[in-house]
Amino acid sequence: MAAIKSFVVYFVLAAAAIIPINAQLTPNFYEKMCPQALPTIRTVVRNAITNETRMGASLLRLHFHDCFVNGCDGSLLLDDTANFVGEKTAIPNNNSVRGFDVIDEIKQAVNTACKGNVVSCADIVAVAARDSVNLLGGPCYPVQLGRRDARTASFNDANANLPSPFSNFSVLLSSFQSQGLNLQDLVALSGGHSIGLARCPSFRNRIYNDSDIDPVFAASKQKNCPVTGGTFNTEPLDATTTLFDNQYFKDLIASRGLLHSDQQLFKNDSSDSDQLVRKYSTNPISFASDFSASMIKMGNLNVLAGNEGEIRMNCRRVN
Ligand code: HEM
Ligand SMILES: *[C@@H]1O[C@H](CO)[C@@H](O)[C@H](O)[C@H]1NC(C)=O
Ligand SMILES: *[C@@H]1O[C@H](CO)[C@@H](O)[C@H](O)[C@H]1NC(C)=O
Ligand SMILES: *[C@@H]1O[C@H](CO)[C@@H](O)[C@H](O)[C@H]1NC(C)=O
Ligand SMILES: *[C@@H]1O[C@H](CO)[C@@H](O)[C@H](O)[C@H]1NC(C)=O
Ligand SMILES: *[C@@H]1O[C@H](CO)[C@@H](O)[C@H](O)[C@H]1NC(C)=O
Repeated sequence: MAAIKSFVVYFVLAAAAIIPINAQLTPNFYEKMCPQALPTIRTVVRNAITNETRMGASLLRLHFHDCFVNGCDGSLLLDDTANFVGEKTAIPNNNSVRGFDVIDEIKQAVNTACKGNVVSCADIVAVAARDSVNLLGGPCYPVQLGRRDARTASFNDANANLPSPFSNFSVLLSSFQSQGLNLQDLVALSGGHSIGLARCPSFRNRIYNDSDIDPVFAASKQKNCPVTGGTFNTEPLDATTTLFDNQYFKDLIASRGLLHSDQQLFKNDSSDSDQLVRKYSTNPISFASDFSASMIKMGNLNVLAGNEGEIRMNCRRVN
């Protein structure tokens, strides 16, 4: 018995020493090394949002698209090279993800403020997403820090793992579950669509063919999104697109979700998903609190820590 016990104790200690666990991330990670790191990120994000409000939404989406493809490891930021195709041109990202220049600007500013290369690109993306949400009126949750940057990226995994706006509810839920996220995470995080825009091809089929849509809403979207063409025309994802609030959920209840995938979360059938949408639509505090918790959870997905990966000098290429 004692032998078994001491084996278990030994195993747990040994595992804690070698297996990278999320517990290695901490909100204070840069406090001693570079206390200016977080304020510097926030300043650049604030300036970018002042120049173009949408950038806040773009930076939030960047973090999501980084985390869902082999973890929050900055892989999305890597440029293609002559012998490497990364994630930027995968279907969900191509001509759609934005904010890479702002990340470059933050990286430069942080390297100057810290007098060296100490803040990872993956952490910069996570903090920029949080600051964007907060500067646009959303919650300010503590970002776990200490992520390291990947030396690889995967075009195929980006195509396979990022959810599609044409998917139904069960496919969306499975996509989140395969990341270790649950229904509440799916509904709360979809509230990220409280800010930002989508291109016409992302919602064309919905506004012409779906039946679970407010006809007045559909007609108004059709004006800017013809049956063919309009490839780069954009429409807001909710009715208060520059404000991070719970309007998105009110829109779903009114059958005014812009994406097919958005409306899949509310079918007026009293499902668990419907009940979460109703709760967030009437209770902005519970939305802010659940969104924060789910962002922290998403931000912990498959992170590299300790001496894994690297801290990239330039977020666009491996060292
Ligand atoms: C549930 C599955 C999701 C699907 C199917 C989905 C799909 C999409 C699509 C198709 C767009 C528009 C892209 C374009 O037309 O160029 C978009 C935009 C956006 N998504 Fe999602 N998304 C999902 C979840 C999330 C999550 C979890 C977040 C963050 C927490 C998020 C944040 C955003 C933001 C902020 C934008 C606007 C970006 C901008 O204006 O630059 N999305 N999403
Ligand atoms: C400001 O935003 C515009 C788009 O609205 C963009 O073209 C420009 O590069 C941005 N300028 C800076 C300094 O970020
Ligand atoms: C990405 O979009 C460009 C057009 O901007 C297109 O030429 C290219 O083929 C697309 N790449 C992929 C892999 O779909
Ligand atoms: C959802 O979509 C998947 C893939 O297209 C399909 O196999 C499945 O039957 C659909 N589920 C429902 C409930 O419609
Ligand atoms: C509507 O659905 C039909 C049948 O699936 C499809 O052929 C058509 O392209 C869709 N219309 C739009 C505007 O997406
Ligand atoms: C939802 O269902 C209720 C009755 O079950 C109905 O009164 C209401 O109009 C429906 N809402 C939508 C948006 O379909």
